[in-house]
Amino acid sequence: MRVIGHRGAMGHAPENTLLSVEKALELGASWVEVDVQAVDGHLVVFHDIRLERVTSGRGYVAEQSFSYLRSLDAGAGQKIPTLGEVFEQVDHRAGINIELKGPNTAAPVAELIGRRLELGWDRERILVSSFNHPELMAFKTICPNIAIGPLIAGIPLEYAAFAQAMGAFSVHICLDFIDSEFVKDSHRRNLKVFVYTVNHPEDIARMRAMGVNGVFTDFPENCAAGGS
Ligand code: G3P
Ligand code: MG
Repeated sequence: MRVIGHRGAMGHAPENTLLSVEKALELGASWVEVDVQAVDGHLVVFHDIRLERVTSGRGYVAEQSFSYLRSLDAGAGQKIPTLGEVFEQVDHRAGINIELKGPNTAAPVAELIGRRLELGWDRERILVSSFNHPELMAFKTICPNIAIGPLIAGIPLEYAAFAQAMGAFSVHICLDFIDSEFVKDSHRRNLKVFVYTVNHPEDIARMRAMGVNGVFTDFPENCAAGGS
């Protein structure tokens, strides 16, 4: 089962920071997941639409200048990183799941990935996901050779049919709704199943027994044997 550090290892370090990414690797995650937004011409790694919950700043992220965002404390003295900085921090030691959070992320993320591939990054260690399926398809149109995984927060009427229609590699579903039928249907369609956010050891064991292919977790150390 693939162990994907959620926003790095947010159970141990401020989410979506370089410290959190490093912690995830230290605790045995073979992949890290980060949330990405396009703001003021930069790809910033940040989850919320507003700044207050996790930074010293105020207001909507999308309305800020890059220099203001970089001036903020994102926790433990960390700065809000760029996606490029996450690639440098990981430095080929793990896979990176880029979750497209905001609008207009598809094109700049595709451009950044193109540059990283030229620098020798293994394309099989990149996975792009989103709850925004049109944005994800826009990405796939530009980068057809990079794996995509649509995110969902429930079980659609036709199970994983939508993900198969998108030509996805995987489908990313929330722990509250996952069941064996969904896993079986996904596997019949040749789709991997990744589940968020799985922290409790009992849930981790349950997901393993259900045959899911990976979990997003705030506590990678709870998953022991990593998987690729
Ligand atoms: O990508 C898995 C998970 O991160 C999706 O939800 O809200 O934590 O970005 P969220
Ligand atoms: Mg996320």
